Amino acid sequence: MSSARRQDRLRGFALAGAFASLLVLGGCAQDMARQPKAKPLSPSDFFEDLRSERPLIENTVARGSLVNDALIVPKDSNEFPLPVTRVFLERGRERYNIFCSPCHGLQGDGNGTIANRGFRHPPTYHQDRLRQVPVGHFYDVITNGFGAMPDYAAQIPPRDRWAIIAYVRALQYSRHAPAADLPAELRKKLSSNSSPAGAEKAAGEAEK
Ligand code: HEC
Repeated sequence: MSSARRQDRLRGFALAGAFASLLVLGGCAQDMARQPKAKPLSPSDFFEDLRSERPLIENTVARGSLVNDALIVPKDSNEFPLPVTRVFLERGRERYNIFCSPCHGLQGDGNGTIANRGFRHPPTYHQDRLRQVPVGHFYDVITNGFGAMPDYAAQIPPRDRWAIIAYVRALQYSRHAPAADLPAELRKKLSSNSSPAGAEKAAGEAEK
């Protein structure tokens, strides 16, 4: 056999081999693509009612998909569903400091330890948009997360979410309270410390 012919032959073998392995692999792909399984809502003649979806067993309790949160309000609602008391606010402060301050900072200006170490900086609560946003938005953010922020539904029960929101509102108010809302004693301190216009300034700003 001439060497040219031998080469031709070898090439032929190689081609045949490649073709065979394509066939074999192709077979795999078909098996993978056509698994004997029922896709959602696809028909099936296995069951009498010709549906592959089986009805739920009686008295089954849904988990995870049921909205069983009595304290939920629509995102655009500004209705606070619980009475706000001092004890409730204290609880909110405690929970806020545990769950939110690592990123949002103890004062809510977005300078928490995690943010300072490289995580995305959350926006400050002390901006007009978040001062004006309805409480339902806060509830939604805690319950479902927001952008880079994970949700806290599993860690924070609904009542505590509201306690936190009440506290966040208190934080916001602390930098935006009209001087007239301060007790007389503090108001006096404020006016002795600052210019006459200071009396109209937000209390927190004057403190700086
Ligand atoms: C792991 C860090 C982290 C924690 C903990 C965290 N947040 Fe956030 N939060 C963020 C980041 C980051 C953003 C900005 C997300 C974005 O814009 O992608 C954000 C955004 C927000 C916003 C603004 C949403 C808007 O409309 O812009 C609110 C309100 C908020 N967080 C509330 C909370 C509350 C309340 C807690 C505690 C229960 C909390 N966050 C805990 C990181 C965190």
